Amino acid sequence: MNRVILVTGANRGIGRSLVAHYLAQPDTTVIGTVRDISSEKAKELSTLPNGNGSSMIVVPLHVDSPSSAAEAASEIQTQHHIQHIDIVIANAGICNHWGPVQEMADSDVVSHFEVNTLGPLRLFKAMAPLLQRASTPKFVYISTLLASILGIEQMPSLTAAYGMSKAAGNYLVKKINAENKYLITLSVDPGLVQTDMGSRAAQIHGLEKALVTVEDTVRGITNQIDVAKKSTTSGQFVNLNGEKVPW
Ligand SMILES: NC(=O)c1ccc[n+]([C@@H]2O[C@H](COP(=O)([O-])OP(=O)(O)OC[C@H]3O[C@@H](n4cnc5c(N)ncnc54)[C@H](OP(=O)(O)O)[C@@H]3O)[C@@H](O)[C@H]2O)c1
Repeated sequence: MNRVILVTGANRGIGRSLVAHYLAQPDTTVIGTVRDISSEKAKELSTLPNGNGSSMIVVPLHVDSPSSAAEAASEIQTQHHIQHIDIVIANAGICNHWGPVQEMADSDVVSHFEVNTLGPLRLFKAMAPLLQRASTPKFVYISTLLASILGIEQMPSLTAAYGMSKAAGNYLVKKINAENKYLITLSVDPGLVQTDMGSRAAQIHGLEKALVTVEDTVRGITNQIDVAKKSTTSGQFVNLNGEKVPW
């Protein structure tokens, strides 16, 4: 039976590279979710090199829609005949507001919570029946160091809406871990990565480029997913080396 891995936000950035990594492994079915399945970037996913016995499925999913995750779960089962999922990676995210709290509008906070917090909640609820049918299921949240409340003083940033939404996402993932004995969960800080989001952050902070290559973050994230067990890092917030990030 193939290992099945679902990644949201699969069309670019970290999500695309996670898809490419898993698809290159043997006997792996990768489900990449994208907002627009007719876009060139979404179509390219089906041309990525695949390992022996592996295949790619592309499914539409808007993580800020209340019904989209449930529709994706239905399509995965009825049209693609997927019976279980081993790993769900809640990767899709936004960081769109840059400025002090004084200048942050309610709508900035709401839009970040829609994608970064409610997105993983809807995803977990929709995919839980499929995760329950896997032997060692894992639910992984791509978080950020900027979600660390203890780190606020050390890391001046202008991304409070983003940080609040990701801190809430971390809480959610830890709570899911506590409530579900069958499931391993993990929040991972991917570093400041050379993607559209990370490059924008690097530019704002006066850096020539983001510090971490996409290859290195994918290596670190997938290593942490591989080694995560219920008795070790499940329910934890870790970095690419497996060190605990302060909540
Ligand atoms: N890059 C970094 O330095 C960094 C650092 C810490 C944490 N992270 C986290 O890592 C994850 C991936 O970031 P990235 O750097 O790869 O960002 P990115 O290059 O900006 O890509 C973001 C991905 O999320 C998708 N997405 C955004 N809103 C969505 C929505 N409403 N519904 C469905 N998909 C949506 C995007 O799809 P579209 O193409 O359709 O917009 C895209 O695939 C995010 O959760 C981010 O917070 C990144």
